[in-house]
Amino acid sequence: MKAVNNLRTRLREATAQIHERLHGHVGLGAAASGAMTRDDYRFLLARLWGFHRAFEGALEEIARSLHLDIVMADRARAPMLEADLMTLGLDADEIAQLPRCDHIFRPTDEASFMGALYVVEGSTLGGIQIARALAGLFGGSEGEGRRFFLGYGERHGVMWRGFLEGLDAFAGDEAREALAIQGAVKTFADFEIWMEGWRP
Ligand code: HEM
Repeated sequence: MKAVNNLRTRLREATAQIHERLHGHVGLGAAASGAMTRDDYRFLLARLWGFHRAFEGALEEIARSLHLDIVMADRARAPMLEADLMTLGLDADEIAQLPRCDHIFRPTDEASFMGALYVVEGSTLGGIQIARALAGLFGGSEGEGRRFFLGYGERHGVMWRGFLEGLDAFAGDEAREALAIQGAVKTFADFEIWMEGWRP
């Protein structure tokens, strides 16, 4: 596990600045503080959906074409956002018409794929904190309205460990580590740009 821990540290350090900047994003920051209007929360979830829907669609297709041993359907979080948006009053047709991010980095090898995936899988770690902060606004016993931030729930540990095992397959290989870092940096950048337009 030593090599994968080193790679994770490198990924964390390479993306620390942009991660920190996202804490200052007005919508994400408000969610993390647990104080935001229902309208703003709806705008935030709609924008997150536009990213995840596009990202998951692209990575599912790429995982198939690269014959990667990862089941993207198990990691789909757009459906969690759809459930939350429905809690907030949107119907399926309205959700399907929401804008989708059209500048997703498309990895062409396993290492940059895993680097891109690091960004969204890692976001489940901080998501749990945000879900806790939002419990005062959306306190449904089944996590209604907070499913996205609650993430994988009881599967959390298994999913994160499974992801780290995927990274472990090439950790220690300098060229592939560099590709993974590039994938993570590009994906974080796509996400940051996309989230600028969160409030109509
Ligand atoms: C206000 C918003 C956010 C807060 C408060 C936050 C907070 C956190 C926290 C506390 C962790 C560490 C959790 C742990 O180690 O158990 C974490 C990890 C992480 N977050 Fe965020 N986060 C936020 C937004 C995001 C976003 C929007 C993304 C990506 C789109 C993201 C990506 C990551 C990644 C990749 C990690 C894993 C770092 C590692 O390798 O340990 N975060 N976040």
